[in-house]
Amino acid sequence: MPTLDLSVRPRALSLSAPAKINLTLAVSDPREDGYHELRSLVVGVDLRDAVTCAVGADVGVGLECDDTAIKPGTNLAWIAAKLLAGRYGLDGRVRIALRKRIPLGAGLGGGSSDAAAAFRLCNELWSLGLNDNVLAEIGAEVGSDVPLFFSLPSAVITGRGERVERMALRWTGWALLVLPKVSISTRDVYACRRSADAAGDDVELTTLGRCTSARELSPLLFNDLEPAVFRACPELKNLRDVIQARVGGVVRVTGSGSTLFQLFDDYERAATTARTIEQSCPGVATCVVRAPVSCGDPVSEEL
Ligand code: C5P
Repeated sequence: MPTLDLSVRPRALSLSAPAKINLTLAVSDPREDGYHELRSLVVGVDLRDAVTCAVGADVGVGLECDDTAIKPGTNLAWIAAKLLAGRYGLDGRVRIALRKRIPLGAGLGGGSSDAAAAFRLCNELWSLGLNDNVLAEIGAEVGSDVPLFFSLPSAVITGRGERVERMALRWTGWALLVLPKVSISTRDVYACRRSADAAGDDVELTTLGRCTSARELSPLLFNDLEPAVFRACPELKNLRDVIQARVGGVVRVTGSGSTLFQLFDDYERAATTARTIEQSCPGVATCVVRAPVSCGDPVSEEL
């Protein structure tokens, strides 16, 4: 796969789109527009979809995906390309191919990350010359989580999630992701939220930035949405309790779920814990991935 040669206008470009986890997530009561004001420290993790955009012969935006549940019309990468074409008066002529590895409805931001990748790829293919700040601003119209994928490996998000500031972490290590076979709607989780759920202990995020080990970092992790996630999906609480009892340590939900995660400094310990969880919880998949990680750079594809 050759790297991008900017002297030749490419016909097809690919990008690897990473997942995210929320290390902290403070959520306030709903605003007048119905969205919740939040403040969250997010990191990219090395579980990635592959997004390819190719210049197509037909007018419009096409989409193909190895997951048949994903359809044009509702897919965020497709919506992103349509929006960008409409905004700049282009007729589209792009085919998007998604190879999904990030599960849907998992709180890992897969759809939003694919949309951010589609923005970056179409920007190159159509020679729009927009910078990441402009793309992130347009991305906020597609979904609250899209802008953060322009600022990984680690960032603080505020507002409804669309205001993003990079924040470096000293820690690098491994995230053990527990992927139950359940998909949760973000909207449903917010509907289950109660004011009293807020832990009210939004720790200084700079303190997390100074941590150098998972042992220091883990006790500071929190997610105000966890009670609502467990209300919306009680079997997930059972799973979290079983895992917590079996392996100990801090096990958190990312975003509005359904993924649970634990942080490690050592790959072997993470992998051993993953095997223990898979043996104790039939039907539950796990993966151990590097964190924090960034988005990749576009590479040109042979057609
Ligand atoms: O912005 P996005 O479409 O990703 O949000 C999905 C839904 O999640 C919203 O319609 C809203 O119900 C809820 N949400 C919220 N507050 C946020 C982000 C999302 O209430 N900060």
